[in-house]
Amino acid sequence: MKAPIIHLVAGARPNFMKVAPLWHALTADSWCDSRIVHTGQHYDDRMSSRFFRDFKLPQAHYNLGVGSGTHAHQTADIMMAYEAICLSERPDWTVVVGDVNSTMATALVAKKLCIPVAHLEAGLRSGDRTMPEEINRLVTDSIADLLWTPSADADENLLREGHDRGSIERVGNIMIDAFEMLRPVIESTATDHLTRHPAATYAVATIHRPSNVDSPSDLSAVVEALMDVQQEWPVVFPVHPRTEAALERFDLRSRLLNAGVTLLEPLGYTEFMALVRNARLVVTDSGGIQEETSYLGIPCFTLRENTERPVTLSQGTNRLVSPATLVESVRTAPPVCRRAIEYWDGNTARRVVDSLRRHVGRAGACGAIS
Ligand code: UD1
Repeated sequence: MKAPIIHLVAGARPNFMKVAPLWHALTADSWCDSRIVHTGQHYDDRMSSRFFRDFKLPQAHYNLGVGSGTHAHQTADIMMAYEAICLSERPDWTVVVGDVNSTMATALVAKKLCIPVAHLEAGLRSGDRTMPEEINRLVTDSIADLLWTPSADADENLLREGHDRGSIERVGNIMIDAFEMLRPVIESTATDHLTRHPAATYAVATIHRPSNVDSPSDLSAVVEALMDVQQEWPVVFPVHPRTEAALERFDLRSRLLNAGVTLLEPLGYTEFMALVRNARLVVTDSGGIQEETSYLGIPCFTLRENTERPVTLSQGTNRLVSPATLVESVRTAPPVCRRAIEYWDGNTARRVVDSLRRHVGRAGACGAIS
């Protein structure tokens, strides 16, 4: 009998570390035929290929090569290209991860072709519909057949939205699998910065959300706040391409450099996690980094008004701050008391594979879970 074909979709940087543990768990035995579909939303070495190397992923079986563009363009390009693939090679399931445009676009295509869809990292909600990722989460979850959640709050969000309990399975946080997979490499990685600064004597910053970088006033406020943090702890700031372009456009790059902030190119996974693991604190607006710092017990200051990952506030090391409150929060942060979050244990990929094995071949018309 032919092995079922599973498409694993990855498009942007935060997807690659979610797909990697899953790919390795799925290919550990031969019950299914897994194929990586890279949409090409992120395309350059710093944002894409390097993560394939870090995680020992094979070259993507399909690369849709869509590149950058407006949301509508990018989404439409992904949909057209993925539809062509699904028509020529009908997968038995399409697995999407996270909340980027690639997640939503490929889920839409698969569902319209009656291909069952599973969403890993389902149920997260910031409640903020100005975030493009929140729209992607809502749309993807509303049509997915199987909803794999990382935490209890995600289950509750889905139940509140009327999802059937039978379609929701709490599998845990796949980002922790990614970290555990590469922990030995991360722990032996020596970056230039680590050679110069002992552990727990510097801050790491990552900022790229449109709400923080797309307007000159928002980005200026963030830059000022980072300059204040630099007075307390040296700041190392690997700069996302969106932020790099905005710093140039608004002429703010030199302010950071003059204040002594270390600006770096975007880093690979192992280098970045080595930097975070040894940091005194992290300032971010990323979703995944709120989780990784909580897992590692590193204080995290999130420059956002809300988070779709509230478990990092209640059980982790995360706190929400504004540019105006950042430096005071950094100064007065209490010592971290680290608690284990249920199912954030490095076994999420195994639970996902078990779930998929149970469901493959059992989905009814158009993917309905029976
Ligand atoms: C996307 C995701 C966001 C995720 C982030 C992580 C959506 C809606 N947003 O945002 O959720 O947190 O990725 O990085 O899906 N660029 C490069 N090289 C690349 C890719 C992009 O230089 O390989 C440049 C683009 O030209 C563009 C900018 O980075 O100017 C932003 O890229 P884009 O994919 O539009 O969105 P992100 O801000 O990265």
